[in-house]
Amino acid sequence: MKRVLSGIQPSGQLTLGNYIGAIRNFVRLQNAHECFFMVVDMHAITVPQEPAALREQTEAVAALYIASGIDPDKAAVFAQSHVPGHAELGWLFTTLAHMGELERMTQFKDKSAGKDSIGAGLFVYPVLMAADILIYNADLVPVGEDQKQHLEMTRDLAARFNGRFGECFTIPEPYIPKVGARIMSLDDASRKMSKSNPNPASYIAIMDEPDMVRKKLSRAVTDSGRAVKYDPANKPEISNLMSIYAHCADMTLEEIESRYEGQGYGGFKKDLAEHVVSVLEPLQAKYRDIRQSGEIHRVLAEGAERAEAVASQTLRDAKERMGFLLPKP
Ligand code: TYM
Repeated sequence: MKRVLSGIQPSGQLTLGNYIGAIRNFVRLQNAHECFFMVVDMHAITVPQEPAALREQTEAVAALYIASGIDPDKAAVFAQSHVPGHAELGWLFTTLAHMGELERMTQFKDKSAGKDSIGAGLFVYPVLMAADILIYNADLVPVGEDQKQHLEMTRDLAARFNGRFGECFTIPEPYIPKVGARIMSLDDASRKMSKSNPNPASYIAIMDEPDMVRKKLSRAVTDSGRAVKYDPANKPEISNLMSIYAHCADMTLEEIESRYEGQGYGGFKKDLAEHVVSVLEPLQAKYRDIRQSGEIHRVLAEGAERAEAVASQTLRDAKERMGFLLPKP
């Protein structure tokens, strides 16, 4: 049994990209592995957050995990800030990280581009992410492709620590879906679908009403051709929609190509919208039930307790190896 850890930021509406790139794999992995799924509230504050919105979104993301099929009896579901060891180990790793490697992070470059003043938290973001993963000695980290570089840095930091202070941390592997690792914007297939895009027509939010999903997908940009063919280099828009289709209809790309052979984009887009709605509608109903029941607080408390038991041991071990004088029990 492997150990699995991942997290999602509670900053704005989650999108179909988060669902396909990450959450679906969380649900799959929970049956065979020991899983930890967090809401990374401390990462969210690396850009300004309105306090009431942060609280609401933290609960919302946890409820979406459960509504998507994560079973809190199997996986520990918790808020990152409820396990203080993340911040503490994050600081220890900050002292091992190099400015140069942090400057090379593309997410940092994207998020800081054009800003006069850049928060130091945004800069050291990947170090806290490394601590998130390493504090559980996770073997597998299910993420979308945009997190691959952060995972590389996590592996480097773990190896650096182990090399200097002795074997303490497991070197984790990314677990990235073959299709759908990078769902693109509906209005521009050169950009990732993202909850932080100011244009809501560019993404499908997991909580979008069915008619909104239909409207957004009918307006999604496609090329001027007709063939429903998977060819990301030459037909990025239709290839992106096909990745979404494949996930929501549980079909392979080849099956989709042959179903729409010689038919053009109209029918394909209509069917795609119905497949997306058929995935989102039941999820949204479950989400509303969970929020109404108020059970999310209990789930988060139990999840944090399970996470804390593992995290505090790893932290103690790491501190001892680094030479901290530990308080006598
Ligand atoms: P975040 O909150 O930006 O995204 C959460 C997850 O969704 C994936 N994702 C996508 N996958 C496919 N297509 C897209 N358009 C798309 N947009 C987002 C992301 O790859 C991610 O897996 N740094 C992380 C959060 C984090 C974390 C961790 C993850 C903090 N600590 C420890 C794993 C382990 C982030 O910003 O994800």
